Amino acid sequence: MHKLTQSLAAIGLAAVMSQFAMAETLKLGFLVKQPEEPWFQTEWKFADKAGKELNFEVIKIAVPDGEKTLNAIDSLAASGAKGFVICTPDPKLGAAIVAKARSYDLKVIAVDDRFVTAKGKPMDSVPLVMMAATKIGERQGNELYREMQKRGWETKETAVMAITANELDTARRRTGGSLAALRAAGFPEKQIYQVPTKSNDIPGAFDAGNSLLVQHPEVKHWLIVGMNDNTVLGGVRASEGQGFKAADVVGIGINGVDAVSELSKSQATGFYGSLLPSPDVHGYRSIKMLHDWVVNGTEPARFTEVTDVVLITRDNFKTELAKKGLM
Ligand code: GLA
Repeated sequence: MHKLTQSLAAIGLAAVMSQFAMAETLKLGFLVKQPEEPWFQTEWKFADKAGKELNFEVIKIAVPDGEKTLNAIDSLAASGAKGFVICTPDPKLGAAIVAKARSYDLKVIAVDDRFVTAKGKPMDSVPLVMMAATKIGERQGNELYREMQKRGWETKETAVMAITANELDTARRRTGGSLAALRAAGFPEKQIYQVPTKSNDIPGAFDAGNSLLVQHPEVKHWLIVGMNDNTVLGGVRASEGQGFKAADVVGIGINGVDAVSELSKSQATGFYGSLLPSPDVHGYRSIKMLHDWVVNGTEPARFTEVTDVVLITRDNFKTELAKKGLM
């Protein structure tokens, strides 16, 4: 009898303990549109860091399209997650994402790309963590202009290739800022050429850049503007394809972490450098905000802008990335 009591007590204790364990491991999702970009891998890595420190599990899911996004929300709910951070593959999915999340009582924070309504209006009701797009774009334009002057290029022989992705709010603001800074510095408007990319990757930007280059055989030197590293890399690859040497091309990307292999090449290319914001902060802070919302009921700020940025080139990228714990 004594034995039976003991073992019943043991079973009871085990049940209580497992319930305790279940209650303890909070699960939160982190969904990204392009997991092949080191930018998003870095966000994941730092979301995991927050998870370890604050004792929750991060469920990381790649969501390259709308269908995968909605399925991911179903599976998060099925696994008992309480919310998710997302960089959506399409800002117009915003309303569908919010509706599905609500149906499961999941909390949502957007990172990087802002949700928009079907009419293209920003959905300000969803908390957003985002880079200071206009400011970082302006920095891109100023650095391009500075490098052009340093190389002693004549303005009349130089043109700007701006590869655009205007349907994406953050991209439009970055490129807009960059071109505004170039104009303000005195670069002639009539030598600024814009071309939209069909997809936000190197092949898309390559095609866009190429179509522009063949229309302007008169241009000797190119400054390349784009919303991120891959866009600028596509433009640089197109210039190489058209026979331009590294000395006649200056491309400056944005993201930094996506430029590491390019900047590590033994020979310099037309890709001069990249503006490195803080993917670590985006990943860590967004999911910490979600954690605090779920666990403590702390409403996140509607808008968190991450401003710090540093120009990395072949000369300093290792040191600068190491300073942020990114290399
Ligand atoms: C967008 C871009 C990414 C990255 C993030 C940063 O999502 O597609 O490459 O620049 O913004 O916020």
